[in-house]
Amino acid sequence: MNNIKKENFLLDSEVRYIKSIIDIEMSNRKILLSTMNGQSLNYDQDSYSIISSDFGRINLRKIEIGKLLEEKFIQHAKEVTGLNDLELCGAVMFTEYNKKYGIPSLMPHCDAGEPNILLDYQVYSNIDWSLVVDNVEFFGKDNSVLNIYNTSQLHYRPAKYFNEGDFIGLLFFNFFSPSFKGPDRNLLEDSKVREEWFVCQNKVNQKE
Ligand SMILES: [Fe+2]
Repeated sequence: MNNIKKENFLLDSEVRYIKSIIDIEMSNRKILLSTMNGQSLNYDQDSYSIISSDFGRINLRKIEIGKLLEEKFIQHAKEVTGLNDLELCGAVMFTEYNKKYGIPSLMPHCDAGEPNILLDYQVYSNIDWSLVVDNVEFFGKDNSVLNIYNTSQLHYRPAKYFNEGDFIGLLFFNFFSPSFKGPDRNLLEDSKVREEWFVCQNKVNQKE
């Protein structure tokens, strides 16, 4: 399983376009507050901005970036994974981590079920917050994209103290490939990583 980070992925004009779409959606959508990352909500979540205070983030599902740009991400996903049968599943989601939504954190986890491949595209930020995938740390820059096998690879962001005004905004593209089979995980190793992460995250939480 290759994780490949590509920098300067989109043209400046495409980045500006995506940012403008996000701005419009951020200002037009009503806000819902949620714990459990929105799982406890019974509404049509696609038309809201959903604040998940337990992750310190806001999620906007169903961001329409247009077919041409979408195709650019699909082609990239095929190229980096070598999986030509992959398909974009569901809608593109935008997430911004920001202290105004709670204490930002992303604990070590594998996502459940399908889809099984994710493109993580960093739209904007004013901080460095790496993504660790199976113990390899990737430092994202704005306009960089990283593919991860999110149901098979343990991934998280290291515990980090956010100051007021710190933010990072990401777009997520979920794919399913019928031919992809991930390896079995070493659950004991995973729980050690998780325990270490919780120790560090608790220190961050205590600073609040
Ligand atoms: Fe995940």
